Amino acid sequence: MKVTVIGAGNMGSAFVKQLVRAGHQVSVTARDSAKAAQVAAANPGAKAVATVGAAAGADAVVLATGYADALSALRSVGDLQGKVVIDITNPLTADYMGLTLGHSTSAAEEIAKALPGAEVVKGFNTVFASVLAEGAELGKGQKVTVFVASDGARAKQTATELARSIGFDVVDAGGLKNARYLEPLAGLNIYLGYGAGLGTSIAPTWIRKA
Ligand SMILES: NC(=O)c1ccc[n+]([C@@H]2O[C@H](COP(=O)([O-])OP(=O)(O)OC[C@H]3O[C@@H](n4cnc5c(N)ncnc54)[C@H](OP(=O)(O)O)[C@@H]3O)[C@@H](O)[C@H]2O)c1
Repeated sequence: MKVTVIGAGNMGSAFVKQLVRAGHQVSVTARDSAKAAQVAAANPGAKAVATVGAAAGADAVVLATGYADALSALRSVGDLQGKVVIDITNPLTADYMGLTLGHSTSAAEEIAKALPGAEVVKGFNTVFASVLAEGAELGKGQKVTVFVASDGARAKQTATELARSIGFDVVDAGGLKNARYLEPLAGLNIYLGYGAGLGTSIAPTWIRKA
């Protein structure tokens, strides 16, 4: 698949690493082009691309910026009409211990509202960057879950295929509205990792009796 990753930070670089390994054609763009170039250089096969037009030809665009930068970043990469946008953001407060919105909306729904032509899917927001970078198995063969929520079948299918291609289990979490559950779930994960001191080699997963 052709994937454009916006953002070359913790999550962006981990996506580039895993997606290249899985054989996808990966472009990365960042506000600071040197950072994108650095991530591409560390992951042979990935391409650092200019922001303008970065979405052209992509089957999926991974939004790996902070939520506050989401719309400006998405608008900067070109026409997103009909594009699958994977929103991994969490609308965190400055101390990372709360959310700036929720209950009656979510970051994903706000992004979808602002970009009506794009097919937005929430996903990967409950996966710590270190887990993404290190791989989808956490001990004893237990695969980490990626929850996907979207109103678009193609967007959900695309995010599902990408997540499975890099080794994750996928749980269909329903419509985009359910990002209202997934963003607080990430908040709990962040609390457990940082606030409660469990560290970042943890992840919420969903199991059922075999
Ligand atoms: N870290 C995690 O474990 C984790 C887990 C799940 C979800 N998330 C979510 O994933 C997102 C990224 O987190 P992160 O930890 O990777 O953050 P990060 O390390 O701060 O990286 C964010 C990147 O986005 C870039 N950026 C900002 N505005 C941009 C724009 N307009 N165009 C292109 N690039 C832009 C930043 O560039 P500059 O360097 O120039 O600022 C930075 O490289 C956040 O929304 C976060 O809530 C994070």
